[in-house]
Amino acid sequence: MKFFLDTANVQEVNDLLDTGWVDGITTNPTLIAASGRRISEVIQELCALVDGPVSAEVTAVDYETMVKEGRYLAQIAPNVVVKVPLTFEGLKACYALTQEDIMVNVTLCFSSGQALLAAKSGATFVSPFVGRLDDVGHDGMGLIQEICEIYTQHPDIDTLVLAASIRHPLHVIQAAQRGADIATIPPKVLHQLLKHPLTDKGVETFSKDWQKTGQSIL
Ligand code: G3P
Repeated sequence: MKFFLDTANVQEVNDLLDTGWVDGITTNPTLIAASGRRISEVIQELCALVDGPVSAEVTAVDYETMVKEGRYLAQIAPNVVVKVPLTFEGLKACYALTQEDIMVNVTLCFSSGQALLAAKSGATFVSPFVGRLDDVGHDGMGLIQEICEIYTQHPDIDTLVLAASIRHPLHVIQAAQRGADIATIPPKVLHQLLKHPLTDKGVETFSKDWQKTGQSIL
């Protein structure tokens, strides 16, 4: 499973590049606003940091303007993926942009029916929002499983399932168990996924026992 970083914070991306974990990046208007920077500048910088896909979201709500914004965002760098909302206008824009060989990430997906339509519109990625479904008492991970089951049965569907709105490490593990192609993960959750108290305790014990030997490897 591929890991995308869900952030528009360049420093957060830089801090994780040496791990080998970062296969791409997703942003959205909220994350861009939190960065305090102009979208064109921050997307250009993020695209230079990673070879993988970097999602940049349109903000228009009408088809024509979405396509114009998408074309503008796509020319920022070759690895830009244009993000559009899963609306009627958004899926028309998805179809138009993919016809121009522009990668599209269809976001704000909350049902399997929506995911089927995103695939029909040629989406490169579909982003089911797990955490937001959980927040309202629905089964976010159940949706991931349902979409993966449906897509797997149809070889003509090449849309990739990008589990989004990831809230904690269990979401990452469950997305992997259920067959999501990608999880887009806030950097904070990645650090939580890494940590285990027994690992820390084990390192401490090894260090103490090693010091008793008086040896050094170098
Ligand atoms: O990529 C989508 C993600 O940023 C949304 O997450 O926490 O706002 O539901 P959240």
